[in-house]
Amino acid sequence: MLVDRDAGGTATLAAEVGDQAFPVPVDLTHDGAVDTIVDSTIEHWGRVDVLVNNAGTSAHGPLVDVPREVLEREIAVHVTIPFLLIQRVARPMITAGYGRIINISSVASLIGPLDLSPYGVAKTGLNGVTRAAATELAQHGITVNALALGPIATDLLRSTWPPDQLAARAEHLPARRLGEVDEVAHAVQFLCSPLSGFINGAVLPVDGGSVAAGAYMVEQYRRWNAHS
Ligand SMILES: NC(=O)c1ccc[n+]([C@@H]2O[C@H](COP(=O)([O-])OP(=O)(O)OC[C@H]3O[C@@H](n4cnc5c(N)ncnc54)[C@H](O)[C@@H]3O)[C@@H](O)[C@H]2O)c1
Repeated sequence: MLVDRDAGGTATLAAEVGDQAFPVPVDLTHDGAVDTIVDSTIEHWGRVDVLVNNAGTSAHGPLVDVPREVLEREIAVHVTIPFLLIQRVARPMITAGYGRIINISSVASLIGPLDLSPYGVAKTGLNGVTRAAATELAQHGITVNALALGPIATDLLRSTWPPDQLAARAEHLPARRLGEVDEVAHAVQFLCSPLSGFINGAVLPVDGGSVAAGAYMVEQYRRWNAHS
């Protein structure tokens, strides 16, 4: 089930994937969206095995200037809707005794983000949803994990950073490059599979080592430049 408010995007992707894919062009924040998504999934497949909470927006600007509606929008997309979707899919998953839930979080939830406070705060909330749901649902064979993504080469990132700043951002990662969409997909695929059955409530960085390096990255970058 390909859920996105971008109707053209879901239709194109569904055509690419083939007749196993069903587009669900809805805005997640609209009334009734959660029911539409889960009901149409049950209608097509008779069950729900996996939920990936991936939709995201990103608002930037200094914390002191953030309008209330921007903060509330970020929390709606990254916390409230994932929470409600987990609630809704948990019942059929409990009945089945099996489920996989993956929340797409961000390194901005693990460090103090710069000029991204509503986004970082909301993603931190999503990590909280992950841990709470994992704790309550583990006994039913359901795992709930989050991926804390570093910069991945997608439209969202390209719209957030001008090209020169994006190139510099990549240079400041231990991996010295941006992540690829497939590298995220492979991590999701692993967490969806029975192979990951004892991993629960984790917030796993998929970030080319940037959280591990922390403030040492500045020193690493200085040394690279000194030797180039
Ligand atoms: N790209 C990165 O560097 C990066 C880094 C950290 C985390 N993330 C997270 O990864 C996820 C995917 O982001 P992306 O980089 O692919 O961005 P993207 O903009 O390419 O994709 C996000 C998708 O979410 C959809 N969406 C947003 N609000 C919606 C709503 N209310 N209803 C329905 N659909 C909605 C958009 O239409 C878009 O297709 C997001 O949760 C984002 O926060 C991305």
